Amino acid sequence: MVRKAFKLAINTPLDLLRAGIVSLDPVLLRTELFASHRVRERQFITDMLPKGGVGAEIGVFTGMFSTVLLDRACPREIYFVDVWWKEFGPRYPDWGRYTDRGRLGTKTAYRAAAKRIAKHAGDARVELLVDYSAKFLAELPDHYLDWAYLDTSHSYEQTLEEVSLLQKKLKPGGILVGDDWNESPGHHHYGLSQAVNEVLASGGFRLIGLYPSKQWAIATS
Ligand SMILES: C[S@@+](CC[C@H](N)C(=O)[O-])C[C@H]1O[C@@H](n2cnc3c(N)ncnc32)[C@H](O)[C@@H]1O
Repeated sequence: MVRKAFKLAINTPLDLLRAGIVSLDPVLLRTELFASHRVRERQFITDMLPKGGVGAEIGVFTGMFSTVLLDRACPREIYFVDVWWKEFGPRYPDWGRYTDRGRLGTKTAYRAAAKRIAKHAGDARVELLVDYSAKFLAELPDHYLDWAYLDTSHSYEQTLEEVSLLQKKLKPGGILVGDDWNESPGHHHYGLSQAVNEVLASGGFRLIGLYPSKQWAIATS
């Protein structure tokens, strides 16, 4: 418990500074200081992504991890896709500290993401899209993406739809990485591992590996 509190006290300000933009919106500041985004803990996964490629982060929220994807994968073209207010209206649901128990505004999160992405974009061609993952993916040409980072609802149905679409939208050998792998039945993220395991069993992807900080990586065969 003490170790967890210590980690939170050290890691969250460092993650915020890394993102380069600290919002003065009191609700956003509170969520970002008191909910760990595990940004530096997860960043190793981006070393698997080919540099200079076409990528997508699906599920962006406030853009904390978007900055890592830009800095470390150095894409030439990248799509940042999230539903923000399109699904949730003016405020997020109560996702505990992550949304300050439902007080965080969706446009506040979007604005923070837009500023962070602009600050880290460099020469990348960037598109920031307020849309549903499935709609965005369905409209992409086939075999377009070199990689994607998937971090949305983690429900079984949604993940199955997203991963099935990504099977067509990634290039052969394209890499799909993501967050929140959990194989404990009953955990609220269990559906994600169920869906990915199902797609792996059907042969559309091969497992690259399961990693610390709930990271996972698969590649199209
Ligand atoms: C865990 S947060 C993403 C965090 C971000 N990737 C990071 O590492 O900082 C999950 C996000 O997925 C978004 N989301 C949920 N369902 C979605 C869908 N169907 N299409 C696009 N985004 C979705 C939510 O709005 C939320 O912002």
